[in-house]
Amino acid sequence: MSQFAIRKYEESDAGEFFEAIEESRDHISHWMSWLTPEFSPSDVHEWIAECRRDFETGIKYEHLIVDRGNGQIVGACGLNSFGRLDKLCNLGYWVRASRLGEGAATRATELLRDLAFEELDIIRIEIVIAVGNEASHQVARHVGAIDEGIQNARLLIGEVAHDARMYSMINPRVRRSG
Ligand SMILES: CC(C)(COP(=O)(O)OP(=O)(O)OC[C@H]1O[C@@H](n2cnc3c(N)ncnc32)[C@H](O)[C@@H]1OP(=O)(O)O)[C@@H](O)C(=O)NCCC(=O)NCCS
Repeated sequence: MSQFAIRKYEESDAGEFFEAIEESRDHISHWMSWLTPEFSPSDVHEWIAECRRDFETGIKYEHLIVDRGNGQIVGACGLNSFGRLDKLCNLGYWVRASRLGEGAATRATELLRDLAFEELDIIRIEIVIAVGNEASHQVARHVGAIDEGIQNARLLIGEVAHDARMYSMINPRVRRSG
């Protein structure tokens, strides 16, 4: 069994979650927009409250990645940007600096895929990864996501629009054309 699990946020996670972000500012902010230099503990409280609310209403399903052995918060991941009509969603993840390269993001992606296909009736999961973000491309490849090619100016990181590769995972139970 994998060393990693995913779970919902609790309000009491705020302190440790902020520590995980603090040690990871460089590599997260290189590839993700939300982590600005001003990001503070009060933003963490707001984020956790939002995630808990949105989990209940099904707007998004954000999780912590945790070490099953000692409970440490290893990172975060989630399903969001749902397209209800076509039953699709986006999948995202990050892992704290001190726990990179142990397979946490790969395992979290597998667990979110199972949640999406088995419990949320999702047909298509998208993972959109900036060209050059090699660790993340490797995660997509590890889980067998389909490489659908590069989309122009698809991801805004800071003020810069990055070309990004679109990966998909398709629910094997879905009836497909062709
Ligand atoms: C992408 C990220 C989540 C990966 O987390 P992780 O838990 O280290 O991922 P895993 O251990 O499951 O797999 C990472 C793989 O990438 C590889 N890798 C890491 N850095 C790499 C690099 N610069 N070039 C090529 N491969 C790289 C690792 O060796 C590993 O592959 P392996 O298992 O075949 O050795 C992490 O790097 C991160 O938080 N990045 C910043 C946020 C981000 O980019 N999120 C994704 C946005 S689309």
